[in-house]
Amino acid sequence: MYKQIGILTGGGDAPGLNAAIRAVVRTAVGEFGMNCVGIEDSFEGVLGETHTRHLTTKSVSGILPRGGTILGTRNRGHFVKTVGGKQIFAELPISEALANLDILGIEALVVIGGEGSLVIAEEFHKRGFPVIGVPKTIDNDLAATEFTFGFMTAIDIATEALDRLHTTAASHDRVMILEVMGRNTGWIALHAGLAGSADIILIPEIPFSFDSIAEKVRAREQSGSRFTNIVVAEGATELGKKEMYQDDEEMRLGGIGMHVSRRVEEMTGKESRCVVLGHLQRGGSPNAFDRMLGTNFGACAVRALASGETGCMVALQAGRVVTVPLSEACHNVKKVQVDGQMVRTARDIGISFAAPKEMRARLAAI
Ligand code: F6P
Repeated sequence: MYKQIGILTGGGDAPGLNAAIRAVVRTAVGEFGMNCVGIEDSFEGVLGETHTRHLTTKSVSGILPRGGTILGTRNRGHFVKTVGGKQIFAELPISEALANLDILGIEALVVIGGEGSLVIAEEFHKRGFPVIGVPKTIDNDLAATEFTFGFMTAIDIATEALDRLHTTAASHDRVMILEVMGRNTGWIALHAGLAGSADIILIPEIPFSFDSIAEKVRAREQSGSRFTNIVVAEGATELGKKEMYQDDEEMRLGGIGMHVSRRVEEMTGKESRCVVLGHLQRGGSPNAFDRMLGTNFGACAVRALASGETGCMVALQAGRVVTVPLSEACHNVKKVQVDGQMVRTARDIGISFAAPKEMRARLAAI
């Protein structure tokens, strides 16, 4: 049994991180009698002049409903370099981190993060350091787990935004466009679009055509609905085009909402407005589901470490938390299935994905 374990949060924040931290500390200290060290600002906290803090059940008291992460996080640190669009591990920081973990007396790590942080965690494991991953991302795009915490809260926020856009769209007879996050997957757009009764949902998995968008807007107009609500995933693309970036160097997605808004206005003559929901989807208090999932993941991760598991990630599968190898967990992106039930349901209730005409026949056959 480990005497002392470390815990860190990496990548973009997600509602539920503090719930997971609290569960890790309570389980490690209360159930297994371990010491728990919080590493600040992701893996950066074990580089240079290390910054860590001792975590006790008292120090994590009251953090369950809090947004963000009490440990701080970083998206891109010293561990991964992007060279020519490819990610490369820098050997030096990993050796330095391992030496510092040894000096700090940290014998194992719980890494709470998305794909990027879990890939770094896997590198630690490959070098013989015990590590368990806990998945988080509002995008819900990790293949090994049915859900990641943060996702349900993001959907709640996007749904509320759509509800609010609905009333203003109807009052002004406008086309309202909500751009949501999700990287190269359409999970947030699809779920929020269904929950918030969007008329058109644009997701990366189904390339769209402007003709199909305009057709839907006109069809609604003719049937007496003079407004249209569109939800667009930041990674959605027009057929044959590439995704749009607000920052090409850093490859930060964004801008598609405004582009759709302008084109729809030109093509239909209807007034259009675009709202980019952005980081509102990540900030603030987690909903009940994300608090529960974060808590369950955190406790299960410590139990896995205590029972000698390493190189694994906790994952929700068929309603149960299991462990899966990190190698399998962090390299597979979960895309919306074009022939899946949710897409079919959306289409059945009249939501358009604005697929180009030639693709529509294929979709209809599914
Ligand atoms: O992966 C989570 C996420 O919020 C994505 O949906 C989004 O593309 C990205 O992170 C934005 O990250 P940041 O603004 O922190 O660089």
